Parts: sequence; C-alpha cells; structure tokens
Amino acid sequence: MDKQSAIGVFDSGLGGLTVVRAIIEQLEFEDIVYLGDTARIPYGTRSAQTVVRYARNCAEKLREHDIKLLVVACNTVSAVALDILREQIDLPILGVIAPGAKAAVEASRRGRIGVIGTLATIASGAYVRAITAIDPRMKVYARATPLLVPLAEEGWTQGEVPRLAVRHYFEPLVESDIDVVVLGCTHYPLLRSVIEGEVGMLFSRPISVVDSAQATAQQLASLLREKRLRAEKKRPGSLRLMVTDKPGRFAEVASRFLGRNLDGLDIRQIDLL
Ligand code: DGL
Repeated sequence: MDKQSAIGVFDSGLGGLTVVRAIIEQLEFEDIVYLGDTARIPYGTRSAQTVVRYARNCAEKLREHDIKLLVVACNTVSAVALDILREQIDLPILGVIAPGAKAAVEASRRGRIGVIGTLATIASGAYVRAITAIDPRMKVYARATPLLVPLAEEGWTQGEVPRLAVRHYFEPLVESDIDVVVLGCTHYPLLRSVIEGEVGMLFSRPISVVDSAQATAQQLASLLREKRLRAEKKRPGSLRLMVTDKPGRFAEVASRFLGRNLDGLDIRQIDLL
C-alpha cells in the first residue's frame, strides 16, 4: 500500500460528495476516487441484506483502483454493512457513524442527542450504539427523516417546503430536550441552515448541529497519520468521479454537493455487475 495511492470514497449516489468536499478542505494533497451508485440510489429505503450486497459491489470496484484506504461516505452503508466490509476487504475502512457519534458526544452539554437519518440508518440503531458506547449516560433520540433526501437532490433546500418537512419531523422531539442534532445522512448538510433555523425556533433556543461529513474528514486525517499513509505535499490532489447511471444529471447536481464547479472533472459511467 502506497501513501501516494488514492483514497476511495463511495456512496449510494452523489450525496457522498459532501464528505469529499470536507476531505478536500482538510486534506488538499490527497487524490480521491469517488464512486456514486446512481443506478441503485436510494439505499436508505432498502433492506439491510440488499444494502450489504450493493456496498460489497462498490467496495470491490474501488479496490481495482489501487486505493490505500476506503471511506464509506453513505450513512446507510456505514450503519448496516461496515463490519461485513471490514471482514471482506483488506484495507483500512472508515465509516461516517463513529466520527459523527464522537463529535455529537463532544458537543452535547445536557447529554441528550437527536439523530436524523434514512429509514435503514435509524432502524439499524447504529448511531444509538455508537453514541452510548462512547458514553453510556447519553440519551439518544433517533428519527427517520426520509423526505429530506429527495428535497436535497432536487435542490429544494430553502423556503416553505423544506421548512415544513423539518418542522414535521422535529415536532415530536420537542419534549426530548436535546441540545445537539446529528445530520446522519449525506444529503442533510445541504439543508443545514433550514434545520438550524426551524429547530432553533421549535425548541426556542439554538441547537448545535453536527455534520458527520466534517467529523469524518477529521478522523480520516488522524487515521492517515496513524497509518503513515498521508500523501506527500507535492501537488494538489486529484478527483476522479465514477457513477453507475446518468453521468450528465450527476454533473448538474453534484456541484451543489461539492460546493464548486465540476468543469474539467472526469465523470465516468461504469457497471458494477
Ligand atoms: N447516502 C444515503 C445516506 O447517507 C442517503 C441516500 C440514500 O438513501 O441512498 O444514508
């Protein structure tokens, strides 16, 4: 394994680019090869067995690219398939749940944490396990908020519609007295300002928002250091993008997730089967 090799990152679609964006901000010399399984998104509404099968296909494909480390950017995959991937893929693997859980515990003063994610992520109980493993006194209030994924994909991240959706999902949590909310899905950072605004209003006080993308990039930096796998500071890192369907549509929407223009980037369509 060479430290100049790329970091492999995958997600069910383009949402994982929020993680790529955080990685680029913190680790500018790393090459990244990204795979978005746009032909089979969403993963968050599927069974754990199906998500495991899809995740294995993605990991094996990235392995062909001589990567030094694998980042599972998808919360759903991190929640249900990480242990199996670690058994089967002989590479350091980082998911997004443990970094998000750690950041949430650090941010919470009252020990009451809200987590939002896809149906599969919340049903798995992975965030509750990860948070209480760090500190068993923490109370975790997890809620599936599936409608927020298509809203982010559509770019519907401001205005009445996302505000109503966020209000609807958070109203049942008002009694819980949480002081932190974990954005436990790749897509939710795009709705961060609506979530902060609406939740602050509902709870009549500001609530800290933890973005697992940022926390994952920080943990990745430590893992690379620990394994002596940090790329040398020779040149800015490159980004290669692969998708399993509709590269044109991906290019259109991806710039919102990545926070920059995709001009000049190579987006390739590949087949996983
Ligand atoms: N990437 C997924 C996640 O973070 C959201 C989209 C999907 O359901 O596939 O859970």
